[in-house]
Amino acid sequence: GWTMEAFKDKEVARIRKLVGEKGQVIGAVSGGVDSTVAAKLMQEAVGGRFHAVMVDNGVLRKDEAKQVKETLTRGLGVNLTVVDASDRFLDLLEGVSDPEKKRKIIGNTFIEIFEEEAKRIAKEAELTPHAGPVEWFLQGTLYPDVIESISFKGPSQTIKTHHNVGGLPEKMKLKLIEPLRELFKDEVRAMGREMGIPADLVGRHPFPGPGLAIRILGAVTREKVRVLQQADLIFIEEIRKAGVYNDISQAFAALSGDRAVGVVGDQRLHGYLVFLRAVQTTDFMTATAYEFPPGVLTKIVSRIGNEVEGVARVLYEVTSKPPSTIEFE
Ligand code: XMP
Repeated sequence: GWTMEAFKDKEVARIRKLVGEKGQVIGAVSGGVDSTVAAKLMQEAVGGRFHAVMVDNGVLRKDEAKQVKETLTRGLGVNLTVVDASDRFLDLLEGVSDPEKKRKIIGNTFIEIFEEEAKRIAKEAELTPHAGPVEWFLQGTLYPDVIESISFKGPSQTIKTHHNVGGLPEKMKLKLIEPLRELFKDEVRAMGREMGIPADLVGRHPFPGPGLAIRILGAVTREKVRVLQQADLIFIEEIRKAGVYNDISQAFAALSGDRAVGVVGDQRLHGYLVFLRAVQTTDFMTATAYEFPPGVLTKIVSRIGNEVEGVARVLYEVTSKPPSTIEFE
């Protein structure tokens, strides 16, 4: 019968045959489940001839790039380059408050940087004796993405453009490898566990391509990124400590575009307004707010207030989707 192990072995064999003895493959990784499982699969199939690229866009969660580097390189043996492009992204985002513009800037800049990196890797391969050309492009597409891109022409296409580095493989004349295209999310997770990927990574909540930029309502500044990273870190840390991370589909902090009034000592302070959101959903098309066990939110809110400088107020958002969305922009 069908087992995950048999599927994995078959897929590894298929990739080896496809890529050949010398062929080189490139692909983007984000630190999420799909790209990590796909990268690990490639590593098993072709080793160092798979070149993974992670772009630090300056709006990742705190220490995300460092952690992904650690897990993929040391933990999983993946040949990964992390490109720190945070200044380039943050400069371009300066003063931009329209959410769709933010998405476009991040998507386009991501493609530019990935392309530059791919050229560098291709040149390096040319100069390496016995290395074949870079001809292949890894994409962590899942079965639902395949279905969706066939049947939908709606906003979901915009959602997916960042993920699949839109149009890049054709432009660079690369051939696609999609090892996960027959799998659903829970199957990808099972495969990740099978391959020895750490449990907390396998169970990770999704994180949007435009990252914290769409969780900072209004204009993105370096200061706001710093505040949000700290608040988000505390939120997720306490969710894990309370043992409810796996009961929640997605949880995150966001920053309001307006300041709120608060008090520090005997002074009134106009500080940041932090929103917390945690939802339960099966398909992300509809969602309900998560009901925390007593005491958990109080602890989180008090930690954020005490530990993150400049925060005046913290709110927990309880609207369902619809009428709300999961993200704030
Ligand atoms: P919404 O806010 O539409 O979110 O209810 C549904 C799911 O999609 C994610 N999302 C995005 N993911 N780029 C992404 O890669 C985006 O621009 C984007 N916008 C929303 C969101 O995090 C949630 O999981």
